[in-house]
Amino acid sequence: MRKSVVVSILLLVFGLTLGQKVPDPPSAYPPGELGELVKLGEELVMKTDTHPLTRAYVGNKLQCTSCHLDGGKTKNKFATFIGTAAAFPAYSPREKAVITLEDRILNCFMRSMNGTRPPVGSKPSVAIAAYITWLSSGLPIEQNPTKPIGRYNAPWPDPAIAKLVKSGQVDLKRGGELYAQKCAACHGKDGQGVGTFPPLWGPNSYNSGAGMANVIKGASWLKYNMPLGNANLSDQEAVDIMAFVNSQPRPAFKLTEHLPDPAKLGEYNSNVPEQIIPAPTWPPKK
Ligand code: HEC
Ligand code: HEC
Repeated sequence: MRKSVVVSILLLVFGLTLGQKVPDPPSAYPPGELGELVKLGEELVMKTDTHPLTRAYVGNKLQCTSCHLDGGKTKNKFATFIGTAAAFPAYSPREKAVITLEDRILNCFMRSMNGTRPPVGSKPSVAIAAYITWLSSGLPIEQNPTKPIGRYNAPWPDPAIAKLVKSGQVDLKRGGELYAQKCAACHGKDGQGVGTFPPLWGPNSYNSGAGMANVIKGASWLKYNMPLGNANLSDQEAVDIMAFVNSQPRPAFKLTEHLPDPAKLGEYNSNVPEQIIPAPTWPPKK
């Protein structure tokens, strides 16, 4: 069969899972040391920026659970960890390589967490991988040949959102107004967070290399997750608000600044040796 036919069939199979509900997370931890490690991984996902095992690798005030709600046990599409492990090893277009679940987790430290990639095989890496794998208990392995994303997150990014952004239907001004009405009470007028509600831009948020910093991906996430507990934005609102949020200043991303000392790196499994994404400017340049 021609390669394009194979790819179309694979995309169709993933497409058919669209309407599927996210299954429940497992109800019991595994016994023994494995169970202890799974529990540790869950704690690290909940307290990533403050826990002694992970805080040195985090450069902002976020936790994995800031975006993967309920520590990834959420049944919201997008960003549940249920079913994620069953998709790996998977092809990553960003790294132009097949990557493992551990690679995927560690890369989040460089981008979403604006920090440093922990060593492969280190305790935080193995613990978080154990936790995320446990959340796929009993689910069939279905390696993803196109994206490092679990089946219950499909379709990702959201096709309706992608269409709006690609056709240029984006209104930054309206996004700012909607932000003030629907988001500022929890995230602050200045986007710096309020109490335990996390910052959306500025030095303590995700950097410009994060998935969330991409308007299509960010708006796809918003559609299913915010406002917290009442995700009700229209596609157009999600796009306008996310374009506004991502036009605000945040740390720029230079890949090589987020890799650890070479002796601690192991093998960085990527065919993209450098990537530089400048920080946005405000007001945006025309
Ligand atoms: C600022 C929001 C944010 C934070 C914080 C964050 N992530 Fe993510 N994560 C995302 C988005 C968005 C994606 C999808 C990305 C893409 O397509 O590029 C993703 C994807 C993933 C995936 C892949 C697949 C899947 O099915 O969900 C894993 C695994 C993952 N993140 C783990 C983590 C871990 C572990 C942490 C904490 C160390 C973390 N993330 C912190 C936003 C975030
Ligand atoms: C009721 C309070 C509340 C409202 C309203 C709300 N959020 Fe959130 N938001 C949260 C909390 C809390 C988290 C972190 C999730 C967690 O820790 O469980 C979060 C996480 C986020 C994140 C990912 C983490 C980060 O800091 O980047 C983004 C992006 C986000 N919200 C955007 C928005 C936008 C845009 C709106 C308006 C449409 C909005 N939120 C409305 C409470 C809220």
